[in-house]
Amino acid sequence: MKRISLTQYLVEEQRQHNSIPAELRLLIEVVARACKTISHAVGKGALGEVLGTAETENIQGEVQKKLDIISNEILLEANEWGGHLAAMASEEMESIHPIPNRYPKGEYMLLFDPLDGSSNIDVNVSIGTIFSVLKAPEGMAQPTEADFMQPGTQQVAAGYAVYGPQTMLVLTTGNGVNCFTLDREMGSWVLTQRNMQIPAKTKEFAINMSNARHWHPPVKRYIDELLAGETGPRGTNFNMRWIASMVADVHRILNRGGVFMYPADLRDTSMPGKLRLMYEANPMAFIVEQAGGAATDGKQRIMDIQPHKLHQRVPVFLGSRDEVAVVTSYHQA
Ligand code: AHG
Ligand code: MN
Ligand code: MN
Repeated sequence: MKRISLTQYLVEEQRQHNSIPAELRLLIEVVARACKTISHAVGKGALGEVLGTAETENIQGEVQKKLDIISNEILLEANEWGGHLAAMASEEMESIHPIPNRYPKGEYMLLFDPLDGSSNIDVNVSIGTIFSVLKAPEGMAQPTEADFMQPGTQQVAAGYAVYGPQTMLVLTTGNGVNCFTLDREMGSWVLTQRNMQIPAKTKEFAINMSNARHWHPPVKRYIDELLAGETGPRGTNFNMRWIASMVADVHRILNRGGVFMYPADLRDTSMPGKLRLMYEANPMAFIVEQAGGAATDGKQRIMDIQPHKLHQRVPVFLGSRDEVAVVTSYHQA
């Protein structure tokens, strides 16, 4: 098999479609390199003393794991000095992180969830990193949070790395979705899946069922119908999977279809769902749509939402097109 590296893929993509300017290519390569470093830390586990909690809280009031902090620092350090970015933002930092004045600035802005699936870190289950790339607004001087308030349709690239039995990088720059596998011995990312496509139909769903008693009626109706199986209104049996790492659940769905849901519920109406729009829902929505799937908040397309806060949360329904359409239609009924 002829091996195509991430670098070769990016260079050829630029030549053929003119879609990846040099600065964006550098950005993607730097993020990929940081993910390689995170993958290495994850793989060491207890031997690298990276497991367990850091006993600090992030802006969302969640206890941070050591790896949340380590991964955040790896991404910050890798991306500060290259000259390709104006600012960064992260799940683990309350405010945006402008590029320090000692470094040149570029025209892109990077957002990330440095370590997704934190509850799985200490139990050796797949975790990941999610990222989204926006362009800095024209004429921006000193970046502020307001400059990040762009809908997901404005993303120029998005991707995730999944640290599982294999470490993989899934990437879109708006021209389909491709997957690269980390060759651990060579230290290089190798193209292993081109143009990933999510089947439109599925018989598999993913939701945290323990929240069922809090769900709004449309979600309850949809899941009840799936659970009713062959003799219910859907006339067929559905299977369920829930990994509790969005990256790993989305990766399964990209490969064999499925519908992933993290709805808002009745517990706290000031908290619309759990997942964050800017660095979880938007990048995943971009990837899923580029693979022929769909992503809504139950009412509208996720990528059309106008953000108003860096850490805002959003209900998420994404994956196989036909199922996302059904659950979305129940919200509109
Ligand atoms: P994070 O670890 O970045 O905080 O994200 C965890 C998210 C997401 O990855 C996953 O789908 C979901 O939280 C799991 O939620 P439950 O704990 O309700 O299963
Ligand atoms: Mn996350
Ligand atoms: Mn996280």
